Formats: sequence, structure tokens, C-alpha cells
Amino acid sequence: MVESHLRPMKDTSAGAKYILVLHGPNLNLLGTREPQVYGSVTLDEINRNLSNLAASAGIKLASFQSNAEAELIDRVQRAINEEIDFIIINPAAYTHTSIALRDALAAVRLPFIEVHLSNIFAREPFRRDSYFSDLAQGVISGLGPKGYELALQYALTAG
Ligand code: DQA
Repeated sequence: MVESHLRPMKDTSAGAKYILVLHGPNLNLLGTREPQVYGSVTLDEINRNLSNLAASAGIKLASFQSNAEAELIDRVQRAINEEIDFIIINPAAYTHTSIALRDALAAVRLPFIEVHLSNIFAREPFRRDSYFSDLAQGVISGLGPKGYELALQYALTAG
């Protein structure tokens, strides 16, 4: 039997209506940061594209980036008091280190998808371990900015 604490509290069977997109540390540098790994698309471009797709689908979307673990945790906690019903998160380096951010996602019990621009399994061995993947509805890794679009498409129909 699936543990109840892993089961999302909110029913998204009709699809998400309000999605929170979270970006972890150093993703504010996208566009210039190691373009051979992360590409040339900026974070603003990714967020604008997601906002446009959400608007076309008639749903709300909020984006938040921080280099600070505490700010990301606080943002996840605030989601409880909002109408947010789905999270798309690229925890960046916190993927491999942050039990605290994982615990925040478990605490709010919102369904989420973990996204990585690069293929974390094709890089250094320490990137293969994620504190988020077993809680996530799914993981998209290695598809660049397209990964966020696919996560959004899934959230729109998630059941
Ligand atoms: C990343 C992969 C992480 O290992 C890395 O620390 C990042 C970005 C990605 O999107 O590919 O900052 O999450």
C-alpha cells in the first residue's frame, strides 16, 4: 500500500489550475552559465514561455527563483495558503543536498514534477542522487527548457 503521507492532498484530476514554478540556485544565470551544459535560453525566457502557455490554457502560473535554501522552503510553505495545486521544481544543486527542501514539499503534500535542464545521469556521479525523485510524480532530465513545457502540459491534465 502507498504510504498516505506520500499521497497528494489536493485533487488535480481535472488538471491543475494554479501552478508554481520553482527554480533553485544559479538558475538566474541561465543563458550565460555553462551554455555547453545548460544552453543559451535565459530564465526570463523560460518563465515568459511558461506564463504564455498557462495563459493560453486559462490557468494561473507563478515563478520564483532563489539562490537561498530558506527562501525556497518559505515559498513552498506559502503555497499551502494559496490556491496552488501543482509545483514544477528544478531544485538545481539543492537536488543533491537539501533534505530541508524535500521535507517542505512533503509537508505541503502538493504534487510536483522535478525538472533538470541537463541529463543528471550523464554527468558527475554525485548528480545522480536526488532527494526529490521518489516524492515526485515524475522526473524530466536532459531535455533543456522543453522539460518545463512538458511538465506544464502534464500538470494541465494530471489526474
Ligand atoms: C540542474 C542539474 C544540477 O545538478 C545542477 O546543480 C544545476 C542544474 C539542471 O537543471 O540540469 O544547477 O538542476
